This record gives sequence, structure tokens and C-alpha cells, in this order.
Amino acid sequence: MKTKIIKLDSLTINKIAAGEVIERPSSVVKELVENSIDADSTEITINIQEGGKKLIEIMDNGNGMSHDDAVLAIQRYSTSKIRTADDLFSIHSLGFRGEALASIVSVAQVEITTKTKEDELGTLLSIKGGEIKINKKTTASNGTRIAVRNLFFNIPVRRKFLKSITTEINHITEFTTKLALAYPNISFSLNHNGKSLITAPKGDTISQITSIFGNKVAKACISIDKKENDYLITGFITKPEFSRKSKDYMYIFVNKRPISNKLISDAILQGYGTAIPSDRYPIVFLFLDLPTEEVDVNVHPTKKEIRFSKEPFIFSLVESCVQNSLTENGLKIFERVSDTRVQPTLFKEISKEKVIANTQFSDTTRIKSTVEDKTSIRMIKRRDQPIEHFLPEGDKKGRDKEIQIEKKVSIRVIGLIKSTYIIAETEEGLLLCDQHAAHEKINYSKYLRQLENMKVSVQKLLAPVSVQLKPSEFQMIEEMKLQLKVYGFDVEVFGKNEILIRSIPSIMGVTISHEVAKDIIDIFKEHNKEIKENLVLEDLDFIKEIVSLFACRRSIKSGDKISVREAEKLIAELLSLKEPFTCPHGRPTIIILNEKYIEEIFQRDYR
Ligand SMILES: Nc1ncnc2c1ncn2[C@@H]1O[C@H](COP(=O)(O)OP(=O)(O)OP(=O)(O)O)[C@@H](O)[C@H]1O
Ligand SMILES: [Mg+2]
Repeated sequence: MKTKIIKLDSLTINKIAAGEVIERPSSVVKELVENSIDADSTEITINIQEGGKKLIEIMDNGNGMSHDDAVLAIQRYSTSKIRTADDLFSIHSLGFRGEALASIVSVAQVEITTKTKEDELGTLLSIKGGEIKINKKTTASNGTRIAVRNLFFNIPVRRKFLKSITTEINHITEFTTKLALAYPNISFSLNHNGKSLITAPKGDTISQITSIFGNKVAKACISIDKKENDYLITGFITKPEFSRKSKDYMYIFVNKRPISNKLISDAILQGYGTAIPSDRYPIVFLFLDLPTEEVDVNVHPTKKEIRFSKEPFIFSLVESCVQNSLTENGLKIFERVSDTRVQPTLFKEISKEKVIANTQFSDTTRIKSTVEDKTSIRMIKRRDQPIEHFLPEGDKKGRDKEIQIEKKVSIRVIGLIKSTYIIAETEEGLLLCDQHAAHEKINYSKYLRQLENMKVSVQKLLAPVSVQLKPSEFQMIEEMKLQLKVYGFDVEVFGKNEILIRSIPSIMGVTISHEVAKDIIDIFKEHNKEIKENLVLEDLDFIKEIVSLFACRRSIKSGDKISVREAEKLIAELLSLKEPFTCPHGRPTIIILNEKYIEEIFQRDYR
């Protein structure tokens, strides 16, 4: 390798920098819209073509730029937003690095038309690959219009790796949604290939929530308004019954900047306590206004990350705010005790001590655990697993009677315990079957078989269920309509951002609640890539999720009383499957305590 060092030219430097700031079309939208907001605009229009690959156009009615400023703006490190390094410690604008425009113009063809209200004529700049091609005065209205064409035209590798149009437009839609929520005093409109995706006229936060998420979500909102010294927390949370399977409905803003931050989302979840199961998330729109000097946004090139100087304080403030609002609205909140959701960094030490204290065995438990270690229960993993594998470890006496499970002749159901487990007697010993897991496995296998044969039996719903989606989800589900049909879901577009589920796979019943309908959408949304890639059916996690969603609500639940006949039928049906011994999630469906094991527990060492 040559060792001679050269200084890179400015286009190359800008292209490298652009790699960090401009990752995809949505980053261009982000940077340009943030500039429009910083320029005090009250109306922002975003026009996109082909997911932003062809065109990204942002028009605002903000302050505009003078001719000299416009020329300067496209150069690196030129900004009107900070003056000295000290300003970095109290940033009030969304931009501050003076990098975004320089990056964009170095990787696309850009046209800027801008005019301040003091100037009579505006400026038109046309830039290609960082070089100004046209620079002239023009008639224009106050404000700025920036059109970005053919993004990454000069970085073919980058362009090639741009995601699908749907993915890109979803990012853009989601980002616009967040800004519309954070700036209700600005009217936003987003159009894709001439079709309107978001129209959020000026108003307040709740009117933005209504126009983007629909009436139902808006009506479920509980307001939060808490001020403690210089800390202000406002916004809305929703009652636990509105929880979703996906985190995507937790909108958090710090000083009007949309952020995703584990500390804050954990604090919100902690505030909900046990009111929401640990695999679900609430719908929240929370705005934190914190002293700028306590928030560091200069951590990541895209400003995605944020750091707080008083983490524990912010954690407990958010937690108590959420908790108090819920209790004031008549909900009893129980604290999560053994929460797997992470506590803030500074609390870790305490929790560690707690864990140690809890795992100090008392004498009795210690004795119990050693007994268990010696003769542990073996779970059946395969149908042809020889019986010796179910014997206590180290005991090979049973070797001479290698009975195969295959040869099992009869099963006699003895009864049910806790309305959950079927107890039966088999030749091998005592059989325990989790009726819920068993039924889930049976449903799962049926559904897979139908899918393999491309013949999913479908149930038309007596009452179709409508689901209000947010714009980015609506796009995605609309595109997936045909795939959904293959899986037995007939979905129809119904009004703006609303869909109607008309039929479902028949193994799942005849009706679905609104909650289940939302969960189905969340599951398809979460696994949209997986579904599109057409992987081997058994590998598709979302099928397991769909089946267990229904299994939880419809198939025999633990707690449901079933008759002996039904129990026999269930076990027989389960054992007729190729892989009967584990549920779709890998948990056991059946456990056999063989005779030898039972004898050992009773210490009947008479042989
Ligand atoms: N839509 C706009 N209206 C008015 N001025 C603008 C607009 N867009 C950009 N500018 C001006 O151009 C300058 C450079 O913009 P650029 O986005 O490159 O940097 P920045 O916003 O200052 O910082 P950052 O790189 O963090 O975004 C801004 O500081 C601002 O003065
Ligand atoms: Mg900027």
C-alpha cells in the first residue's frame, strides 16, 4: 500500500460526511423539514416521487435566505444557528452543524429557490454533485423550495442498496407524523406520487392526533401536564386497554425532537406497572421540555441519540407522571416487582443486591434443589426417543427395556388439574399435558398444512372489523393485501387510513374483537419483511404469533374445563402430529414422569 498522504478534495470530504448524515431518502426529508421548522415556517409541503428516489421536494413559507446566504448555506460548516462552541451546550434549533445541505448537494441534483420578505427578488440555485450550475435571481414567493432529484446518483453502490419504495415512504410518513405531532402550530402535508398521505392542518396536539390516528385514539387520550421546576412534561397517554403489540405507538419528544430513548420508554412502562402485560406497549404521545443544558443531542451524526445529565431524576419524574395520571383516572396501578424491563443505569447496583438476597437459599430449598438435580424430569423431544432418556441421569438399569414411544398402546385420562393440565396414565408412566399448549400446536399444524397446500380455509366474519391505522401502517398493509389473502385474511381499504378485515382463517373462529384485529395488523406489520421474502413456512415466526394470538383467545385456554372425552381426543390428535411434544414456541406440550422416576421420588428402592 502507498503511504503517501494526500488531502482529500472538498467534494470527497462532503460525500464521506454525507454518508453519515444522509443514509436514505427519509434522512433528506428530515434535514430539509427541520430546516423549514428552524426558519419559522407555518406551512410545510412535502412532495415525494418513487419513495424519494426520484424526487424529494420541500416547500415552506419560512424566513427564506438572501442570495449570499443561499450560496453559503450549501457549504460545509456554514450555519446561522450557532455562533461559538459554547452555543453547543444550549441548542434551541433542530439544526446546528451546518452540514446537512452540503451533504445533500454533494450526493444529488438539487434546486433551491428561496426569498426573504425583505428582498424583492429571490434566488435560484441549481447544484449537481456539489457544483453550482445555475445561480440567478428569480421571482418567488417568500420562503424556500428545495427539490432533490436522483439521490445518490454519483454513489451507485448506495443507490443500489436503497430499500423498496414502500419502505422508504413508510420512513418518510412516520417521520412526518412525528413532526406534525411535535409542531401542531405548523400545517404539514405529505404527498406521494400525487396521492395525499398526511394532511395535518394547524391546530393543537389533540387535533393532530385526531387527523393522523383517528377519533378512537384521540378519545382514549388522558392528558398529562406536569411542571416541576424547569422540567415540563405534557402530552397524552392512553388507558392500558389500548395497548399494542408494537412499540411504534410510543411517541416521545424531548424539546420537540422526536427521539427513541430506552430510559424514557422504560420509565413510561414502569409507570403503567402491571396494568400492561410485559409484551405489550401503551399508546403515548409524551413531550418533555427540559433545560437545554441538561440534554446532549450532539452524540450522533443524525441526532438520533440523546443523553441526559440527570437520568434517575428524569426516570422517576416520567414514571410518577404516568402513574399519577392513570390513578387519577380510576386505575389501580401495581408496581412491577421482578421487572425484566431494564432499570436506569444508576439503579442497577441496587437491583443487583436485591437479586443476590433473593437467591440465598434457605436450607430446605437447598435440599430440594439437590434432590431435583439428581433425578430430573426428562422431557420428550422426539417421538422415537428411547425410554432410557427419560430415566434419572446415571441410571442405566432400564437399558434392557428400551420401549419406544411409538409402541405406546393406550392412554387413560385420569382427570384435570387446575383446569389446565390433563393427567393420564400411559405404559411409560404418568402423562401430564398442557391443554392450551396442545391445542395451540394442533391449530398451528393444521394452519401450516393448509398453507402448504395453498388452501387456507377461510371464515367470512359476520361483522367485519374496522381498524384505524396510522398513515405509515396503512401504506404497508395496502401493499400487502394480496399476501394477506394467501394467509386467509381478507382486508379491504375503507376510508382514509382505515381498513376492514372481512375474513380470517377458519381455524381461528368466527369473530374477532377489535383488539385482536389490531394485533393482527401489528403482527403483519412487524413481520412484513419476513412475509415478503417467502421463506420456508416452518421458519416464519409470524405464523406462530398469529396462531398463538388466536389460541390465547379461542382454543382451549388453561382454566377452561374440558371433558375426559375431549381430553382423550386432544391427546390423540396431538400424538398424531409429526412433532407433538413441543408447542410452536418450543415449550413442552406433554411431560411424562416415568415409573422409575416416580419410584425414585418416593425412595422405593426395592428392586
Ligand atoms: N428552508 C430554509 N429556510 C431558511 N434558511 C434555511 C433553510 N434551509 C437552510 N437554511 C439556512 O442554511 C443553513 C445551512 O443549513 P444546514 O441544514 O446545512 O445546516 P444547519 O441546519 O445549520 O445544521 P444541521 O447540519 O445540523 O442541519 C442554515 O443554518 C440556515 O441558515
Ligand atoms: Mg439543517
